[in-house]
Amino acid sequence: MKILILGASGLVGRALRQKLFAEDVCGTYCRQIDAYHADDKMFRLDATDGNRFTELLQAVKPQVIISCMRGDFAAQLCLHRRLTKFLKGKEDSRLIYFSTANVFDNSLTAPHYENDTLDAKSEYGVFKMQCEALLREALGSRCVILRIPEVWGKDCPRLSAMKAMAKNGQAIHVYENDFLNYTLDSQIADCVQEILQKDLRGVFHVGTSDMCSHAEFRRKIAKQLHLAPLFEAERSEENAFQAVLTARSDLPAAQYFTIDMLLDRLFQSESV
Ligand SMILES: NC(=O)c1ccc[n+]([C@@H]2O[C@H](COP(=O)([O-])OP(=O)(O)OC[C@H]3O[C@@H](n4cnc5c(N)ncnc54)[C@H](OP(=O)(O)O)[C@@H]3O)[C@@H](O)[C@H]2O)c1
Repeated sequence: MKILILGASGLVGRALRQKLFAEDVCGTYCRQIDAYHADDKMFRLDATDGNRFTELLQAVKPQVIISCMRGDFAAQLCLHRRLTKFLKGKEDSRLIYFSTANVFDNSLTAPHYENDTLDAKSEYGVFKMQCEALLREALGSRCVILRIPEVWGKDCPRLSAMKAMAKNGQAIHVYENDFLNYTLDSQIADCVQEILQKDLRGVFHVGTSDMCSHAEFRRKIAKQLHLAPLFEAERSEENAFQAVLTARSDLPAAQYFTIDMLLDRLFQSESV
C-alpha cells in the first residue's frame, strides 16, 4: 500500500510513520529542512505551493493519503481541493483527514459524538469544519475523518513546555472549568493502522473515554513528573466541554482507554 503523509515531520505524522513502517510510506515536511532534507522518503512542501503539491501527487501516486499538516488555512483549503481533483475517479484510493474537537467550539455545554452537527466559532474550528465538508462532499466514504482532542506524547511540545516552565519557575495557566478528553500520538497511530487494515469508514473521535478539567490533567502530569510547578488557575462561571467522545464500537478494545491508562502509557519508563 503506497501511503503519503502530509505533515509527516509533526507530532502525529512522526507517530504514523513509525507505526506504518512496514508499508511503502513517504511524507512531507515544511520548515524542518535540516532534519529531513537527506531523507529520500520525505519531500519538502509548503501549503502555499499548489503546483508543487500536484507534481508530488503525480510523482508518488499514493493509494492512501493521510493529512495531518498545519499551515495557512486558506492555502490548506486550496491544497485539499487539489487533492480531491487528484483522487477523483480513483475509486480504490482513500484519504484520512485529521480534524479537531474545535469543530464544535461554538457548542460547549456537553461533550460531542461523531454524528453531532458541527458548530464552530474559532477561526481554526471553522477552517477544519469547511475542510471536512469539502472532502466529504467530493470523496464520500473514501474520506475518513479523525477528530482529535489535545494530543500528548513522550516528546510532544506540551510536555516539553510544562517541564521547562516548571524548571524556570514560570506559572502555568490552567482552566478549572474546561473539561476535555485527551489522546496520545501512539493511540492515534494504532487507530489509523486499524482503519487501514480493516477498511473502516466514516468519522472517528479518537481520545480517552473519560474527561477531566484542563487544570486537573496538568496537575496529574506534574505529579507523574514529580514536579511542583506554579499553577495560575482560571475559573469561569459555567463548565465548558471540549471533548470528542466516541459512540463507535468497531475498534479493538485496546483503543478505548481512560485518562489514567493514558498517563500510565505516557510515563512508562519516563526519566524526569
Ligand atoms: N496536536 C494537537 O493537540 C491537535 C489537536 C487537534 C487536532 N490536531 C490536528 O492534527 C494534525 C496534526 O497535528 P500535529 O500536532 O501533529 O501538528 P504539528 O506537530 O505542528 O505538525 C504539523 C505538520 O505540518 C507541517 N507544516 C507546518 N506548516 C506547514 C505549511 N505552511 N505547509 C505545509 N506543511 C506545514 C509541519 O512541517 P514542519 O514541522 O517541517 O514545518 C509538520 O509536518 C493537524 O492537522 C492539527 O490541526 C492536532
